[in-house]
Amino acid sequence: MTNESVNSPARTFRVTLEGPDGVHEISAGADEHIWDAALAQGVELPAICHQGFCLTCAGQLLAPGEFDSSDCEQYFPEDREAGYILLCTSKAQSDLRIRTFAADNMRRHRVAHRLPAPYS
Ligand code: FES
Repeated sequence: MTNESVNSPARTFRVTLEGPDGVHEISAGADEHIWDAALAQGVELPAICHQGFCLTCAGQLLAPGEFDSSDCEQYFPEDREAGYILLCTSKAQSDLRIRTFAADNMRRHRVAHRLPAPYS
């Protein structure tokens, strides 16, 4: 018996976004930028460059989690160690809980580590 629906389904994760307007739960595919997933589900987040460079879309993990930051133009090991995530160009690889609107904190973190901090 053949069954074309046997194809493995795209992995999808639950992403909880905590922002100034409350908590939003969205689903985000493993191959989908979290920012895009949020917008498609009615959650508007800040952004300027959409390239993982300007830090405007920054979030910070509130719990351990996995994400793919390989599409970010500029992202450093120190950013990951501190739990910062650039939502415009990062893809969930596990369920995530994230504080949004974290650009100011991420810029201060970059400056403290003598790393590039656009718009700081
Ligand atoms: S919008 Fe510029 S880094 Fe995400």
